[in-house]
Amino acid sequence: MDENQVQPTFSMPRIGEPAPEFKAVTTQGDINFPSDYKGNWVILFSHPADFTPVCTSEFMTFATMEKQFNEANCKLVGLSVDGIYSHIAWLRTIKEKIEYKGMKDVEVTFPLIEDITMEVATKYGMMMPGESNTKAVRAVFFIDPKGIIRTIIYYPLSLGRNFEELYRALIALQTADEFGIATPADWQPGDDVIVPTAGSCGTAKERMESKDEMHCYDWFFCTKKLTKATILDKIIKK
Ligand code: BEZ
Repeated sequence: MDENQVQPTFSMPRIGEPAPEFKAVTTQGDINFPSDYKGNWVILFSHPADFTPVCTSEFMTFATMEKQFNEANCKLVGLSVDGIYSHIAWLRTIKEKIEYKGMKDVEVTFPLIEDITMEVATKYGMMMPGESNTKAVRAVFFIDPKGIIRTIIYYPLSLGRNFEELYRALIALQTADEFGIATPADWQPGDDVIVPTAGSCGTAKERMESKDEMHCYDWFFCTKKLTKATILDKIIKK
């Protein structure tokens, strides 16, 4: 490209901002996003292409875990820049022919968006030309019940996602909202959680001297217990 040519601009949605709106055709009918999902968490994720092996392993895994995500008040919505007939054919092939790691007869019942025009993929910053001009990367957007983007994770084409990590992130986000805490490195439900950092010298002193439920490693780094049962009782709907 010569230096006088105008570079195309790519918008990237950001954490803390409303999820960009769109209407789309999906394998489960038309959707209005994110308004159709108000009141639910939603994970909007892209995959590079139908009929590819990494994506097939991902869809089988996500579809097998869908109930677990739904019980945490979270809906799944997939997207690639393929058309609806390709999506339908691929999902039928997965159900009828593919057996992988003990998963078989897997029906993908969450919507898969057709995005041949790349309108949605471009709006959500899922196209990364350094990686591919024709395929979306593996993007994951966690959107809260008010339609706000709360977490964004990107993986390249060759790297299949860890769906246990996506579930852990979903539960951690909801736990932070519900209990007003933060979660430390590698946190799993049942591990100690981090209480908000002291905002005054008085609170810092109190925390260091107190023998109550908190454990302080230093004045700015205090944790407390939060049982897995307490968390799941609030978050999981069975
Ligand atoms: C895959 O899903 O296997 C894949 C898709 C695009 C590029 C490389 C791998």
